[in-house]
Amino acid sequence: MDTNSKITILAIESSCDETSASICVDGKILSNSIATQSVHEQYGGVVPELASRAHMQNIVPVVETCLQEAFPNLNATEKMAIISAVAFTQAPGLIGSLLVGVQFAKSLSLSLNKPLISVHHMQAHVLANMIQDPAPSFPFLCLTVSGGHTQIVLARSPLDLEIIGETIDDAAGEAFDKTAKLLGLPYPGGPLIDKYAALGDPLAFKFAEPQIPELDFSFSGLKTSILYFLQKQVPGFIELNRNDLCASVQYTIIQILLKKLKKAVVKTGVKQVCLAGGVSANSGLRQALQEAGIKHGWKTYIPSFEYCTDNAAMIAITAYYKYQAGQFTSLDSYPSARAEW
Ligand code: KG4
Ligand code: ZN
Repeated sequence: MDTNSKITILAIESSCDETSASICVDGKILSNSIATQSVHEQYGGVVPELASRAHMQNIVPVVETCLQEAFPNLNATEKMAIISAVAFTQAPGLIGSLLVGVQFAKSLSLSLNKPLISVHHMQAHVLANMIQDPAPSFPFLCLTVSGGHTQIVLARSPLDLEIIGETIDDAAGEAFDKTAKLLGLPYPGGPLIDKYAALGDPLAFKFAEPQIPELDFSFSGLKTSILYFLQKQVPGFIELNRNDLCASVQYTIIQILLKKLKKAVVKTGVKQVCLAGGVSANSGLRQALQEAGIKHGWKTYIPSFEYCTDNAAMIAITAYYKYQAGQFTSLDSYPSARAEW
């Protein structure tokens, strides 16, 4: 492939517990390698110090793999020469984890004398929807649901993204994981709730939905109401009713998300609706969005699972837009655990 006149981005993502690198040429993803850190499973959550150490171990092999997959016929020098810019996740995330990716990207940019591009992780989750064909046209709405965030974003153009609603406490992923813990399921509980929910009755138990104004969300009350409900039951209740409990919890979370999404469509008049973030792997949510699309005449888009959870391809596609807009960053740029949009 003649990539000399093309925009070739090498992107790094290391904000939490996935070390990932991706190559994007002219907006097309050629590779997206991801090293998942299983070390955290035994601790019931991500341990920041262990995450940083695992990123240190994984980053070189992950970058080598992504370059090899994208350019199998080029030698090491040719692979480096072809890169137009190096991109990295700047925020938000675990600071030690971010630092590994930022320092790696800076070193590479300096040694190759190629420009550097910083990317906001949550904006990248939204733009993951632009990777696949067909991609939404602008404007579109995106419901981003992950372990740390729950947002409705209005995307007017690739670099004009506005948060029009977000959680005031827990994220949707936390609601899944914390409820799963109450039900005695291991971390991360979201995928297990999904699995058992498929076998249960979503209307078996009713949990109160929060009354939050406008387009914002709240999930902490749901966790408390489930806790109080379980405390009132006889021993063995959870084991006997596991599938129905999972189905009812999942149903409630999806109802909360979908109601706000409907409100956002009415408020903005935008009828292209996308999903993003790890919770968009949830089969009930995917189905509910598709059904809402058919019922209300929305065009719906859901990225494939690989681009829903943390990945560098979404960083690469965002950097591709930033490259075209001339939005580069300097070598003194630094990561941030929390970041303004
Ligand atoms: O986006 P993500 O991979 O990581 C960040 O939080 O940035 O999202 C992880 C979250 C976890 O809370 C996990 O339980 C949830 O996504 N999750 C799911 C499913 N798969 C992952 N929640 C419900 N159903 C699933 N199938
Ligand atoms: Zn994420």
